[in-house]
Amino acid sequence: MDKQVLIAFASKYGATAEIAEKIGTVLRQSGLQVDVIPVKNVHDLANYGAVILASAVYIGQWRKEAVKFLKTNEKTLSEKQVWLFSSGPTGEGDPVELLQGWRFPKGQQEIADRIQPRDIAVFHGDVDPEKINALHKWMIDKVDSPVGDYRDWEAITAWAKTIADTLQG
Ligand SMILES: Cc1cc2nc3c(=O)[nH]c(=O)nc-3n(C[C@H](O)[C@H](O)[C@H](O)COP(=O)(O)O)c2cc1C
Repeated sequence: MDKQVLIAFASKYGATAEIAEKIGTVLRQSGLQVDVIPVKNVHDLANYGAVILASAVYIGQWRKEAVKFLKTNEKTLSEKQVWLFSSGPTGEGDPVELLQGWRFPKGQQEIADRIQPRDIAVFHGDVDPEKINALHKWMIDKVDSPVGDYRDWEAITAWAKTIADTLQG
């Protein structure tokens, strides 16, 4: 593939950004040209043949800048190879089971159906009580959600390798 890969992410406290960077590293090791950029700073998709779009999940929703990007670029994305992933659940076990079957925000499911991504993944997240603001801390306490860094780097690396294989196949 001669065109570059874009990894665009929406991250409040950095956990999703680090997952995006890790995926970028794996793809670069496979010889691909990759840009890893906060989604709000992405202005032009012309140079990219493939796009990986990521968002942290807050109360079942993607962050608004990721939603805006999906809406604004739906048509362009539908003409490229696209992968989507969310970073969110904390706790041990399968991330989708931790979310009782949640895989993607309902409000954007129709857009995703039209874009036809190669895959939609959910990865564990990181809730760091030292980093999150007072409101978020209160919310996490209220729902008794586990805190800590549950990101599964093996699962993330394996997923990135499947993308590299597809793009270089
Ligand atoms: C107030 C609050 C609400 C959250 N709601 C969800 C949620 O609905 N689903 C989920 O999977 N994760 C939820 N999370 C966990 C975050 O998605 C997780 O911490 C993520 O890794 C944060 O990524 P970021 O550092 O890139 O923003 C929530 C976290 C906070 C602080």
